[in-house]
Formats: sequence, C-alpha cells, structure tokens
Amino acid sequence: MRAHGAWLCAAALAAAGACGGDHASTTQPVIPPPPPAPAADTTPLRVLAARHSLLIGAAVDRGFRYTGSDSATFRALLAKQFSVLTPENDMKWDHIHPARNTYRFEPADSIVAFAEANGMKVRGHNLAWHSQLPAWLTSGTWTPAEATALLDDHIATVVGHYRGRVMEWDVVNEALNDDGTKRSSFWLANVGPGYIERAFRDARAADSAAGLFYNDYNIEGMNAKSDSLYAMMQDFKARGVPVTGVGFESHFQLGGVPSSLAANIARFAGLGLKVHITELDVRMLLPATSTQLDAQASDYTTVVSACMQTTACDLVTIWGVSDRESWIPGTFPGWGAATLFDAQYQSKPAYAALVKLLQ
Ligand code: G3I
Repeated sequence: MRAHGAWLCAAALAAAGACGGDHASTTQPVIPPPPPAPAADTTPLRVLAARHSLLIGAAVDRGFRYTGSDSATFRALLAKQFSVLTPENDMKWDHIHPARNTYRFEPADSIVAFAEANGMKVRGHNLAWHSQLPAWLTSGTWTPAEATALLDDHIATVVGHYRGRVMEWDVVNEALNDDGTKRSSFWLANVGPGYIERAFRDARAADSAAGLFYNDYNIEGMNAKSDSLYAMMQDFKARGVPVTGVGFESHFQLGGVPSSLAANIARFAGLGLKVHITELDVRMLLPATSTQLDAQASDYTTVVSACMQTTACDLVTIWGVSDRESWIPGTFPGWGAATLFDAQYQSKPAYAALVKLLQ
C-alpha cells in the first residue's frame, strides 16, 4: 500500500509539491515505471479454438475473388484465423449445376483447394433448398419420378465430386416454416415430403463418411419450428435415416440470441446428433457505436459459450470474414457490422471477446 501510495503521489502530485513531508527533501523520489499494458493476445482464433476441440469457420464468396493486395489481405486473414470454410454460394444448385447436363465445379474447387493448402476443413452448402435453384430446373415440367431422379443425380454427382474432401454437408436447407410445417418449395411440390429423407440417403450413398446436416434459421431457441425439427430428427434417428447433426444458422440481431439456445443444443445432442453453429452473425443498425459493438461482443460470447457447454457442438462458422463481405447490408439496408472484423479488416470487440473466452 505504502509503495503504491508513494508511486501515485510521485506520479500525479510531485509537480504540485503536495506529497507530504518528504517533498521538502532534496532526494528525488524513485518513480517506478507504469505497469505495462497487458499484451493483446495475437494467437489466432483457430489455434485458441482448437485447444477446446472447437472448429471456427467463415463463409467465403466475393472476398475469395478479390484481386491484388485485397486478395492477399483477405486470404491471409482467412487462413490465419479460421479452420473451416463454407462456400457461401458456389456449391448451390444455380452456381454448380447451371444447365441440366452441365456442372461448374471450378469456383468451389478453388475454395476447397485453398482450404486443403491451409489445413482447413470444408462445409458443403447445400444440396436441397427452396432458393437459388436454376431456371432450367424450376421452369421445367417434371413427373415425380423425374424430379426425384434429378435430386438423386445432383447429390450423387456433387457429393461424389467432393468425396473425402468435404467434411460435412448441409444436405437439406431451410425446409420448415416458423410454425413447423414443411415449407413450400420445388422439392416439396415435385418430389413430395419424402424428399428430405431421400436427400440424406442419397448423400450417404455418395460419401460414406461425410457428416450430413439439416440446416435452418429460427431453430436456435425452443419454439414451434425447432420442436418440429426435433420430432423429425427423432423419427430419422429411430428409422436409421443417415443424419449426423443439425446446423443452427444463427443470424441474430443485436440482443436477439434466444435464452434457450444452450438448452436447445443440449436436447438435439440428446438425440445423438451434433449441433453446429453454421452461419453466425450479429447485425446492428448503422452506424455502429461502441456501445453496440460491446453488446455484439457479448452476443458472440453467449453463442460460442452455449456451444462449448455441450461436446456435440464443436463448430462455429461466421457468415463472412469481415463486414466488407457480409451479406447483411445488401439484404437489410441500414444494417450491418455483423462479423468479427470491420471493413478494413481490423478486429472488433467481438473478436477480442472470443479470444478472451477461448484463452
Ligand atoms: O453472382 C451475382 C453477380 O454476378 C452480380 O453482379 C451480383 C449483383 O447483385 O449478384 C450476384 O449474386 C448474388 C449472390 O449472392 C452472390 O454474391 C445474389 O444477387 C445474392 O442474392 C446472393 O445472396 C446470397 C443469398 O444467400 C441468396 O439467398 C448471399 O450471398 C448468401 O450469404 C446467402 O446465404 C444464405 C444461406 O445460403 C442460407 N441461409 C441464409 C443465408 C443468408 O441469406
């Protein structure tokens, strides 16, 4: 105490001659240097996460096509911080299967090659979805048998192409409405409700080892939609449909992480399923304030902490490397700042919060 008091006095008050009796002494006080600021932990997120057996991923799309120094900066950050990649669009039907007899694998191939060169895993996204379907498919007239064959062939071809190189697939994406009923879609209309189960069986036939996931939004908390998914997964497990896990997309607004997230992860884990956080971002109204960024850090911490409570949850993917590439401003005008890095690739409080959580 005394030394501390003397130091404070010396540092702050000596110039004013207000340090008590000693000030009259001719001996100059010894002023210790200020304590060093704690060094920022520069250990990459993927290294910290690995210590908890957690994979930390990012979705990539246009950032992967930057050129010159933008490309170098983007790819260096990607490879340094993340251990999993998800092609944000390049494996979707309209990108990878642009004509009935044409597959275009090159864009996704380059992402997979980058991942392999940098010791990263790949999440395949996705095989059966209502959106981003090519016009040749949706404008055609198909019998149920023809539509089923198209689904079977697509999954066999795409999953077969990446066999052994894609760690896990979002086999079926967003097939439910918020009330738990099945969403209207090309697949529901043309194949029938059995398309979900069929897609999982097709994917397993094409790759005996890849993880096979059902992926959706608004299933992160306990609600009618996640209850319906739970019942479907329970039925799938009981009947031996090859499902590995569920993907909680986790596109949240600031303050919008459901309080039942951890309990909901636990109940799906109780079915013997993995639960992966597959598309995490936390959007806010722009311009972002420091108060909002701190609240965002807290939301990110809540999500990753909830995941870490259950061993079945061992992957968290952020939907975008930085705010520069994030899908949010294009879809929600006036909103953004949803990822861990700002548009200049500077880390945000959410990044620091995850470093602290994972240390
Ligand atoms: O490729 C064209 C490009 O040629 C053109 O210049 C540009 C002009 O707008 O559009 C480009 O296509 C865009 C595509 O992303 C690739 O960047 C589409 O317009 C745009 O609609 C598309 O948005 C994607 C969206 O899915 C489509 O539904 C987002 O990037 C992607 O982040 C988003 O991802 C989904 C997941 O797959 C499923 N879960 C929800 C998530 C967010 O919506």
